[in-house]
Amino acid sequence: PDLVVVAIDGPSGSGKSSVARAVASRLRYGYLDTGAMYRAATWWCLDQHVDLTDGERVAATVRAMPLTIGTDPESPGVEVGGTDVSVPIRTTEISTQVSAVATNLEVRAELRRRQREIIGLVGRERGGVVAEGRDITTVVAPDSDVRILLYASEEARLARRSTELHGNASTANVEATRDQIVRRDRDDSTVSSFMQAAPGVTTIDTSDLTLQGSVEAVLDQIASDLGRIR
Ligand code: C5P
Repeated sequence: PDLVVVAIDGPSGSGKSSVARAVASRLRYGYLDTGAMYRAATWWCLDQHVDLTDGERVAATVRAMPLTIGTDPESPGVEVGGTDVSVPIRTTEISTQVSAVATNLEVRAELRRRQREIIGLVGRERGGVVAEGRDITTVVAPDSDVRILLYASEEARLARRSTELHGNASTANVEATRDQIVRRDRDDSTVSSFMQAAPGVTTIDTSDLTLQGSVEAVLDQIASDLGRIR
């Protein structure tokens, strides 16, 4: 194919963002973090003082969101209306509220439309694109050349997120993280199924893999799906 699309889905803490970004960088492909778009939408609604339980207002606000998302794996910045929101969209405040916005079906339709447009544009520009999220292999780009579900045991995912948020995976910190992660995955699961691979999607278990090991496993899978030798 002259435009290669690599679709990667997985739950939080599966390592999909770091892995997808590193893979895109190695292949010199574009990179699309769709979770960052849902996070930016949540940040924008809160910035506009929109009540997140008012579905119609949330949808209208997201449709008007002036979002620019960076697709260079070396510096994937996120801007809304000229404000750099790369850091604020990663806060606990956004993480605990993002599912309320992401489960709005009109929001999903709007962001899906933008995601497909970006995948086409960036893919053509660079010859390929790695897009990651929860519904890329199933809904956004189900006809992708490579479709991967990054799996990791709950234990492994909690340890990773705890280390990311608190610098270590002590029992207390893992417990503090558990509530957030488990609840978010449960809420997200009501609209997209990313815990089990859909037909034709390859599962890669990263529970016992380092970041580098996961990147190698994904690169191997891509080469095999494209019939290329690494
Ligand atoms: O991947 P990340 O944890 O940054 O995603 C943040 C949130 O965005 C998820 O918890 C989910 O609610 C939403 N999301 C989604 N569909 C995607 C990507 C993310 O609903 N394709």
